[in-house]
Amino acid sequence: MEKLIIEGGRPLYGDVRISGAKNAALPLMAATLLAPGKHILRNMPDLRDTRTFVRLMENLGVESERSGDVLSLDTTNLLHTEAPYELVKTMRASVLVLGPLLARFGKAKVSLPGGCAIGARPINFHIMGLERLGVTCKLEGGYVDASIAGQMKGNVIYFDIPSVTGTENLLMASVLAEGTTVLKNAAREPEIGNLVDMLNGMGAKIEGRDTDKLTIHGVTHLTPADCSIIPDRIETGTYLIAIAASGGAGTVTNCNPAHLPSLLEKLRGVGLTITETDTTISVGWSDHAKKQQVVRSVDIKTMPYPGYPTDLQAQFMALMALSTDTCVINETIFENRFMHVAELHRMGAKIRIDGHFAVVTGQGLNGLNGAPVMATDLRASSSLVIAGLAASGRTEISRIYHLERGYENLVDKLTTLGAKVWKEQE
Ligand code: EPU
Repeated sequence: MEKLIIEGGRPLYGDVRISGAKNAALPLMAATLLAPGKHILRNMPDLRDTRTFVRLMENLGVESERSGDVLSLDTTNLLHTEAPYELVKTMRASVLVLGPLLARFGKAKVSLPGGCAIGARPINFHIMGLERLGVTCKLEGGYVDASIAGQMKGNVIYFDIPSVTGTENLLMASVLAEGTTVLKNAAREPEIGNLVDMLNGMGAKIEGRDTDKLTIHGVTHLTPADCSIIPDRIETGTYLIAIAASGGAGTVTNCNPAHLPSLLEKLRGVGLTITETDTTISVGWSDHAKKQQVVRSVDIKTMPYPGYPTDLQAQFMALMALSTDTCVINETIFENRFMHVAELHRMGAKIRIDGHFAVVTGQGLNGLNGAPVMATDLRASSSLVIAGLAASGRTEISRIYHLERGYENLVDKLTTLGAKVWKEQE
């Protein structure tokens, strides 16, 4: 296993280029199962999770070829319709093959993902929605065994809570259903807009992109896709926060500022200047904040998009640990997403947890010290990287395979910004 070493306390300066979004790449790969033929996916990030998904697709019989950031997937000849436990247990998003396999073949057997570090994460909405379309789902031996005789029939499906992969699975299930399906209280994350664009490009008829009501008029067949993955808004936010926490200034390129409405407002509130173009965001400290050495504390509450993203909660907490006041962070999406707190304590952060709330008492921009810490999940790990960059001295983060699930070329990108960071064997 590898660990990451950071010699902190060096402000980051310069430009960093953002990769394609992990959480768009995975459903887009799953959607290629809907139409036989050769699909092209552009701006594909090379991550542990995208590689795992390619292995899952290859296990189904899909032929894959990668050239630079272009991935082609040939879904003409599938061998079977089963996603085994060995693959699903390493990545919950594997459940995304359920909808498209059912739509194309009328059957699919997918291992239940089980819990994960950040919470229980059930898939009851996915199953309830499929049943509304006429699918029979049997839960046996840790698998959901789903099938339908004939075609799925369109219906109205209501989500109790907007679910990102739930919305994606039911979109993919219903595009080939007979009649019209309406998804109400659907999730509106930009990754879902990316999937809607891809499916419509393949011949689907979906209305309501970027809203919480998606209307899907079923079609009889789809054609292979040629589609580009949107920039990763969570990677974008992570670098903006990292540059800010280091006390530096820089520009994040090849991103979409429109996908981060909440974070950019929060960063302005902290005392940063934010400048946007269509594809870049520049961040730096305002003159006032610089002169007074003031990092304002700002409360956040995680919410479905366009609210503040849970996937940027841990990173913002690292920045707030460097503030000059106290703030409250309310995590409303996942029940166990404060795993980074105990590690941040080791670096001198003052954070108190009470249920879904974390009260952060900032220690000032120079208030953290390097320490050996442990990565526990993907976003928790990136908050430790941010804290390590800001802290004085050496931070060693073990179990960095978590980071490699979602951040492409992290060490190279940080080095370009002037960080002193490298990997070593544990
Ligand atoms: N939920 C249910 N039942 C369901 C589905 C969801 O109760 O059947 C609950 C969840 O427990 C949670 C809430 O609904 O409380 C929202 O969960 P959602 O289904 O939206 O999460 P997800 O689709 O499993 C995706 C991302 C996560 C991200 C969340 C929230 C992908 C592949 N994963 O997960 O990304 O945190 O949406 O935005 O898109 C990450 O990238 O680090 C990551 C965890």
